[in-house]
Amino acid sequence: MSPSILPSPALDIQGVSHGFGAKPVLHDVTLRLHRGQFLSLVGPSGCGKSTLLRAIVGTHPPRQGAIRTFPMNRGSEGVAVLGPGRDRGIVYQQYSLFPFLTARQNVAIGLMLDETGIPFRFFRWPRWRRLRRQHLRQAEEMLVSVRLGDALDLYPHEMSGGMRQRVALAQAMILRPEIILLDEPFGALDEATRQDLQEMLVDLYQKNRHAQESGGMPSLTLIIVTHELNEAIYVGDRVVGLSQYWNWRADGHSACPGATVVYDKPAPVFDLRTQREFERFAAQRNEIRHVVFEPSSQYPRHQHVTYDQESGAPANA
Ligand SMILES: Nc1ncnc2c1ncn2[C@@H]1O[C@H](COP(=O)(O)OP(=O)(O)O)[C@@H](O)[C@H]1O
Ligand SMILES: [Mg+2]
Repeated sequence: MSPSILPSPALDIQGVSHGFGAKPVLHDVTLRLHRGQFLSLVGPSGCGKSTLLRAIVGTHPPRQGAIRTFPMNRGSEGVAVLGPGRDRGIVYQQYSLFPFLTARQNVAIGLMLDETGIPFRFFRWPRWRRLRRQHLRQAEEMLVSVRLGDALDLYPHEMSGGMRQRVALAQAMILRPEIILLDEPFGALDEATRQDLQEMLVDLYQKNRHAQESGGMPSLTLIIVTHELNEAIYVGDRVVGLSQYWNWRADGHSACPGATVVYDKPAPVFDLRTQREFERFAAQRNEIRHVVFEPSSQYPRHQHVTYDQESGAPANA
C-alpha cells in the first residue's frame, strides 16, 4: 500500500441536483476528482448513481448545479459539460457490441466514426482505406492491452461475457478519453472473470502512478459504479457513497430531497503483487454498509465525508 495520486483537478461536480417529474433523485452532489484518480461510487439501488454518470457524460444535464472537466489541452480553468464529448467515455453493464463485426472491427469503428464523415469515406476512398488500416492496427494494440491479443478476429457470439466487456472497454478507451465511467461493468460476470477484470483496472491505475512518478500526467481518471464493496475498495483509491438516507430533517424538510454524498473516504491502493485479503477491508466495508445502505442510519450529512481532510487534498469548494 502506498499513498494515492497527488491532486490536479480532472472533474468538478458542484451542487448537482436532479429529479424526474416531482420525484427528487440527486440532491446537492458536490465532488472534485483528481487526475488519475479511480473513484468507486456505491449506493442503494435507485439512489441515482447512473443518473449522476449520465450527467457527467452530458447526455442528461442536471436540473441544478454545474459539472466541469479539465481537458489537458485546455488550461486550468476547466470546461463546462454541456453535452457529450470525446474527453469522456462510458461503459455499461450490458454493453452491446455490433454482432456482425469482429473484436478488432468493433474497437476500430469508434475511431472511424469519430474521425471520418460519410462524404470523406465516399469521395476520398484511397485515403480512407489507409486510415482504416491504421485504425485497425490501433484497435489491435488496444485489444492486446486488455489481454485480448488472441481474440482479435472473434465475433461477439464467439466470446465469453468477460471478453465482450473487455472489447467494450477497449472500444471506449481507444478514443483516449481522459475520464472513463463504468456503470456496474462487471455485474453480469462470474467471480473469476470479474477478478480478472478488476486486476486489469488495478494495472491501469498503476500505469497512472508510474506516469506521475516519472514526472508525467496520469492519463486516465475513472469512476466505477459497483454494488460489490470489496470491488469498490480494491479498485478505487477513494470510495464515495451516495444515499438518500441522511439526516435531512435537520434542514427542516418534510420529504427526502434526494440522494447526496454521505460517505467519502480514501481506500487502500493495491498493486498486482499484493494479495487481495478482503478481511483487511472488513472495517471499511461495515462502515460503508452502515452509513450508506441502512435506512436507519441518518447520520449528519458530512460526518463521513472526510476524503479531503484524510488525503490532504484541497477542499472541494
Ligand atoms: N428517465 C427516467 N425517467 C423517470 N425516472 C427515472 C429515469 N431514470 C431514472 N429514473 C429514476 O431515478 C432514480 C435513480 O435511478 P438510477 O440513476 O438509475 O439509480 P441507480 O443507478 O443508483 O440504481 C430511480 O428511482 C429511477 O427509477
Ligand atoms: Mg444504475
